[in-house]
Formats: sequence, C-alpha cells, structure tokens
Amino acid sequence: MIEFEGIYGRPAAGVWAAPGRVNLIGEHTDYNDGFVLPLALDRRTLVAAAPADRTTVRSSREAEAVVFEAATVAPGDVTGWGSYVAGVVWAFREAGRPVLDLDLLVEGDVPVGAGLSSSASLECAVAVALAELTGTPVERTPLARLARRAENDFVGAPTGGMDQMAAMHGAAGRLVFLDTRTEETELIPFDLPAHGLALLVVDTRAPHQLVDGQYGERRRDCAEAAARLGVPALRDATLAAVEELADERLRRRARHVVTEDERVLEVVGRLRAGEDPREIGPLLTASHESMRDDFAITVPHVDVAAEVCLRAGAHGARMTGGGFGGCVIALVETDDVDPVGEAVAAAYAERGWEAPVAFTAVPSDGAGRA
Ligand code: GLA
Repeated sequence: MIEFEGIYGRPAAGVWAAPGRVNLIGEHTDYNDGFVLPLALDRRTLVAAAPADRTTVRSSREAEAVVFEAATVAPGDVTGWGSYVAGVVWAFREAGRPVLDLDLLVEGDVPVGAGLSSSASLECAVAVALAELTGTPVERTPLARLARRAENDFVGAPTGGMDQMAAMHGAAGRLVFLDTRTEETELIPFDLPAHGLALLVVDTRAPHQLVDGQYGERRRDCAEAAARLGVPALRDATLAAVEELADERLRRRARHVVTEDERVLEVVGRLRAGEDPREIGPLLTASHESMRDDFAITVPHVDVAAEVCLRAGAHGARMTGGGFGGCVIALVETDDVDPVGEAVAAAYAERGWEAPVAFTAVPSDGAGRA
C-alpha cells in the first residue's frame, strides 16, 4: 500500500481489507436456503482509496488500469477483474446509497482461482471502503448483500451468499454459522490449536471457474428438485421425500443438499457442546463423499488429495468451495501438518501433476479498516 502515493500522487484516504474464506462444511447449501459454516482466512484483499474525479482501479496483479464513472457505470461496461469493483459501486447505487469516484489500489494474498473467494474479498473490501468514504453505516449483512448483488447481477456469477457473509462476519478463532434463509449468523468458537489440531488447506491447483456452466446447472437441478417436491427450497425437503424422486440425477443432487444441511447442524451441535473437534472428522469426509458421488462436483485432483490426507492420518478431509477443483481441507494433528502436506505432494508428483500448495487456515477477522 506504500505504492498508493507513488502511483496517484497523493496519500490514500484509508486502507480497507476483507478476507478470503474456507468453508468448513455446508457446500452448495447456500442457494438452497440452507446452512453453511465457513471461516474467514488470514489472507486478505487490501484496497487503498482516495476520492477522485472519476474512478480508476489499479491492482498489483494486473498491468492495465480499469476506469469508469461511479454515477453511470452499468452491467456490461466493465468486465474481468475490475467488474468486482465496478459491480459494488453499481450495487450501492441500485440500493439508493450514495457513491463517489475513487482512485483505488488493490493488493492482496488471497490466491486467485483457488476457490478461496478472492472475488468476494475484493467486493467486500470495496464495500466497506465505499460505505465509510460516503459516510454511510458499515452494517455487515447489508454490505454482504450488496457485494453478492455485484457478483450475481454485474459480474454474472450465479453464486449464493456464503462467501460475502463470511468475508463480512468472520472473526478470529471463530466459525461463521450462517442460516442463509434468515441471514442470521452465530460465531462458533473453533480453537483447533488448543486441541493440538490444525486445519490444513491444500490448494490442488486444478483449474477452477465459477462463471462456467456447471455451477448454474447444479442450481437449476436443485430448483427443479424443490419444485417437484413441492417445497420452497431444498432446505425444507425431507430425505424420505427426496428418496422418492423418480429422476435419478435430481434425486442425487437433492440428497446431497439435504444430507449436507444435516451434517452442518451436527457439526455445529458438537462444537457448541464443546466436544473434541476430532469428532467432526467423519462428517467432513462424508461431505466429500456426498459431493463426489451425489452432487458430482469433484475432480481427480481433489479426490486424490482428500484420499491421501485421510491415508496420511487426517481425521477428516473434504473439498471446500464451489467445486471442479480448488482446495481440499483436512483436519489434522498439529504434528501431522507437514507429513500430510508432503504425502499429497508425493502423490501428485507420482501422477505428474503440478505440485499442490499447502497452508494452515487461521480463522480471522472480517472486513474493515486494514
Ligand atoms: C461458491 C459460491 C458460494 C457457494 C459455494 C458452494 O463458493 O460462491 O455461494 O455456493 O460455491 O458451497
């Protein structure tokens, strides 16, 4: 951020930040009115900003600047990485909030394209910056909603609301338990080091893309299954009713969502009761199997990583995020962090795959002043 003055010729009015996330459990449940349990990472997107005559966005990761007018920018005007910024400005305007033009400098260490919600972190950092600079309240859930609106209706990615809510509500040492129907959140203590445990994140480096068709197809299947079951959303369906669905594909998709909601609630119940976190391991693994066998969103890179983690001693392992690549998380003994990561690296090397990148997830605070 030291760069801002060198680039724009005056100091920034402030620096704001928002984190990436991993989801502990509750995958593809957020657009089915269900439950999710993400945590905000200690990897963040930083946005330095100062009022200007028109908006210019520069990023340490991109060669070209993006330029637009806050008062008029509309969907289609800005594409690519700059659309996450322009989308938030547009969403503010659409909601009747004031906007202003800014010089912006974006930096950060959330890996892009790894399923860790770098896009939501950028949207949320811009949202808190814009709210503060326009003198409007920084209310977490309304700002998360605006950030999601940017993603859905400006960028054009049909996601649910988990990522933006995690980026806004995250807290150090806590999981964010979110009921996506009521938008109620509860922070659940998640102090793994106190139990001699760690949450290992393995970035499989398998290509991952949300704007492509598969995510939208899963959404449509879920909506169709809910319609056939006569319920407002799959959150309201029972497993018994789902098992009666005649269409096999819809039955499998719905079964994943219904059983995943149950698993989230069971994990929350166990953690709230202060049980040993090792007890949730099998639920994480069951979530992976459900995503692999019923929801059909895993790929060989993530299946191999999850299997190898378990064989190397993890208590549970699952893909996290939208799917078709991205990251695997594994609940491991602190002493096993390195050996488990090395086992996955060895398995990848054997197959001639690009080396994975492993790190430990540290539950961290949500968006705000950096
Ligand atoms: C992506 C979306 C989220 C959610 C997950 C799957 O991360 O952005 O809204 O649907 O996939 O759980």
